[in-house]
Amino acid sequence: MNYYIITGSSRGIGRALVDQLTNDPENEVIGIARSYQQAKKNYHHIEFDLGNIEELKSQVSHFFETVKAPKRVVLINNAGTLGEIGHVGSLSADGLEQVMNLNVTTPTILMNEFVRQFSGVQAEKVILNISSGAGKYPVDGWSAYCASKSALDLFSKVVAEECILNENDIKVFSVAPGVVDTEMQSQIREAAPEQFRTKGKFVKLKEEQMLSAPASVAQKLLEVINFPDRFSEVLLDVRKF
Ligand SMILES: NC(=O)c1ccc[n+]([C@@H]2O[C@H](COP(=O)([O-])OP(=O)(O)OC[C@H]3O[C@@H](n4cnc5c(N)ncnc54)[C@H](OP(=O)(O)O)[C@@H]3O)[C@@H](O)[C@H]2O)c1
Repeated sequence: MNYYIITGSSRGIGRALVDQLTNDPENEVIGIARSYQQAKKNYHHIEFDLGNIEELKSQVSHFFETVKAPKRVVLINNAGTLGEIGHVGSLSADGLEQVMNLNVTTPTILMNEFVRQFSGVQAEKVILNISSGAGKYPVDGWSAYCASKSALDLFSKVVAEECILNENDIKVFSVAPGVVDTEMQSQIREAAPEQFRTKGKFVKLKEEQMLSAPASVAQKLLEVINFPDRFSEVLLDVRKF
């Protein structure tokens, strides 16, 4: 069996990944999100708030407990949030904490557990983190989001290097998905323009139908998972392959 553990499986890119992966009866998909509808036979849902770090620390080892003698095991850290859109000085401390919890602390805890549990297991092993172009350059109004994705990228690069040093045979990627037509983009277009001067660019992209469909992005991500040896870099951008 192939096992896929996907965070943020209820909608957007995560949901599109679940829809495609569950078409194959050889795949068992374990999704983690606060909500989910319409379960398939080979989909197992864990209803969980991944922003709750205390709870995560006590539960994380159980997330992988249904994985038995895997042929392939894949962790997809997809859940993410933009948080409050606004300039620094106008943000709440709770909001800043939430972004860092969900976008940085949670995926690092999950990666740590994955490496701990599967390092010695003979299987194809992949960690795929969903990053963002916004982790590579500043966007006004998105300070915490940009910083969180930048942190995820560098953490991924360190894990990838350690996996080579320790001969774990775990492939690690941090992939920017492009601009994708999901609820996250709706939130961007609804932001107050004075808190986010770049807003016009995203409104225009939608008007000109330049957003990618979640299903086509999921297809690209599956290419990385299915053929990891074709990709020599840790940091990838789906618009470039
Ligand atoms: N859309 C884009 O243009 C774009 C661009 C660059 C990068 N990305 C990245 O792609 C990833 C997916 O984004 P998306 O556009 O698909 O977003 P989305 O449509 O807003 O979906 C986010 C997913 O994360 C889950 N989630 C949010 N908060 C959670 C929490 N506290 N606990 C558990 N699950 C939580 C949501 O499920 P529940 O609400 O049910 O919990 C949902 O399934 C994110 O990491 C995002 O940063 C997106």
